[in-house]
Amino acid sequence: MIKIAPSILSADFAKLGQEVKEVEAAGAELIHIDVMDGQFVPNITMGPIVVEALRPITQLPLDVHLMIENPDNYIEQFAKAGADYISVHVEACRHLHRTIQLIRSLGVKPGVVLNPHTPIESIQHILEDIDFVLFMTVNPGFGGQKFISSVVPKIEALSKIIKERGLSIEIEVDGGITSETIGACTKAGATMIVAGSAIYNKENRREAIQEIKTAGEA
Ligand code: DX5
Ligand code: ZN
Repeated sequence: MIKIAPSILSADFAKLGQEVKEVEAAGAELIHIDVMDGQFVPNITMGPIVVEALRPITQLPLDVHLMIENPDNYIEQFAKAGADYISVHVEACRHLHRTIQLIRSLGVKPGVVLNPHTPIESIQHILEDIDFVLFMTVNPGFGGQKFISSVVPKIEALSKIIKERGLSIEIEVDGGITSETIGACTKAGATMIVAGSAIYNKENRREAIQEIKTAGEA
């Protein structure tokens, strides 16, 4: 079973609540929230107050993707605001293990994110401590970019390690996901699927979600 996590980065921010409710009603399983600081990535988006505002308007888990430097300074605020999942970039964490412990101590599911060029070896020694790995399939910063297919072998390799070590870690993919690109990701072992423009740029969100799901489960 795959879970669809619409990224609100491509939603209409002038009516954000409505945009979230709409994808919930259309069959989404998570809401993906992209936090960017203009330092780690060349874009600035939203902070804990957006998570706090969305928390009461949806039953879905909030999946907070931190694309920020020094995430430790903000994790507690995002947890208090109502995040259910928090992922941090391995490239932004000097003491990754400590950061993951911090997320878990706040009752939130911790995940690590790998940029397209970052090898899976960088997370070998943290796998026992995390609930999910997020593979970036574009360079983080913007919605609507083209899927980078060279990430797929990394997903396959991690799936194999997860099986061999008997771990229960979910694999999430983010960036350029459409009904064309999802198949390669789910075949490789991804089960949490982020899609921004492929859902929010479509008039009919139910059809958009269904199309991606069907292609991912084929
Ligand atoms: C990119 C973000 C993504 C983005 C995905 O930095 O992490 O979540 O919104 O957008 P699409 O699906 O349009 O590539
Ligand atoms: Zn994201």
